[in-house]
Amino acid sequence: MPVDAILGLQWGDEGKGKIVDYLADQYHAVCRFQGGPNAGHTLWIQGKKIVLHTLPSGIFRSNTLNLIGNGVVIDPITLSKEIDTVHSDIPDLIDRLFISRKAHLILPTHRWIDLASEHAKGKQKIGSTLRGIGPCYMDKTGRNGLRIGDINQNSFRSDYFALKEKHLQFLKQFPQADFNIEEEEQKWFDSIEKINQLQSINAEYWLNSMLVKNASVLAEGAQGTMLDVDFGTYPYVTSSNTIAAGICTGLGIAPNKIRKVIGIAKAYCTRVGSGPFPSELLDETGEKLRKEGNEFGSTTGRPRRCGWLDLVQLRYSVMINGVTDLCITKIDVLNHFEEIKMVNGYVLNNNEQTNELPFHLETIKHVTTTPLKGWQQELSNITDKEHLPSEVKSFLNSIQTNTTIPVSILSTGPGRDELMIF
Ligand code: GDP
Ligand code: IMO
Ligand code: MG
Repeated sequence: MPVDAILGLQWGDEGKGKIVDYLADQYHAVCRFQGGPNAGHTLWIQGKKIVLHTLPSGIFRSNTLNLIGNGVVIDPITLSKEIDTVHSDIPDLIDRLFISRKAHLILPTHRWIDLASEHAKGKQKIGSTLRGIGPCYMDKTGRNGLRIGDINQNSFRSDYFALKEKHLQFLKQFPQADFNIEEEEQKWFDSIEKINQLQSINAEYWLNSMLVKNASVLAEGAQGTMLDVDFGTYPYVTSSNTIAAGICTGLGIAPNKIRKVIGIAKAYCTRVGSGPFPSELLDETGEKLRKEGNEFGSTTGRPRRCGWLDLVQLRYSVMINGVTDLCITKIDVLNHFEEIKMVNGYVLNNNEQTNELPFHLETIKHVTTTPLKGWQQELSNITDKEHLPSEVKSFLNSIQTNTTIPVSILSTGPGRDELMIF
């Protein structure tokens, strides 16, 4: 059976974790294919909030296997903490969790470099989560990295110290940044011992043989399309391919194995960290979106910037990912707005109008919007499409018409079952 995917279409935090957790019991395996502990995927399990950073969001489904793919970068400290946090709720976690031997390791010095280089950037800082993501992917593509499969090699410790030494030399170019390397290194080696107990495998063989046996697989994206290193708002992006193409390189499967690409977008937009954000609202409407949507980062707690849904941006993401189905989340956050807007075009600094993303989003002078009437009522008691207020139907119709993609999932609250499948 082919692979389906869940991917973020905006700047991350679209609600991927919740939807993956909901759908996971329909799949034999859930696989993370890129990113690392910069991700924060929130699940609500029996009234308890759980934020996953490296573990796939299928772990709470007892019949589902979970894979951390080769495209993911792993911080052993975060991963072992995460496993400790959920272990009492999932006694068989270790039996259902697999890690690709080809996944790269985040070293303490990767986090140190992240910190020092962000500080040095001053006003131009990316707003990184400082989890060492960029420096780790740099070592991967620079062919210096250490991988899960290296842990049991005799040279592992000496390779670690050689790479650390390179990092210390590199760090000399930056002003000093506070980092307790001895303490972090001790924690790192302790955590390496722990994650070495996990099942590390040649995941590309494992996954492809599952597909041959007709298993169904769900690929779980992290971040979002606008944070993709190639197609996002570069340089204000993360360091991996967050888009559908990243599934193939991040798991070792061929493009013709991918069937459904479920693209997730919030009913409005958010962004955490720096960089252009055309539909951002710096007024009380933006403030209201942040308050109603509780828009604070799952990984860093930072307030998220908020703005209206941007159809130009959404169409771009649909195109880049080959989205087959849309999932709109957090529709309930708009319950108490008299008027809701959608961005339908951009006016550039040279007064040219466009409905394409320009090379530099900073060249957008202002956005143009379409107003829609709000529904001003709760949606929590509605369980099917027919009973949705006509204003919600119009809102969804506008998205479908503009993207030509059907909305097949509508999320109406953070809880696992607060959603409608159309
Ligand atoms: P992810 O990174 O894409 O998994 O998203 P995050 O977990 O970082 O952020 C999404 C936030 O919205 C979390 O706090 C979720 O619990 C919450 N959430 C998800 N879906 C909905 C929804 O439909 N309505 C509301 N109100 N909250 C939601
Ligand atoms: P999930 O999977 C939202 C943002 C950071 C920063 C930029 C680069 O939860 O949707 P990095 O740490 O990768 O060097 O940061 O990307 N960012 C995210 N924003 N959700 C995420 O993940 C993010 N992961 C990274 O805020 O602007
Ligand atoms: Mg998140």
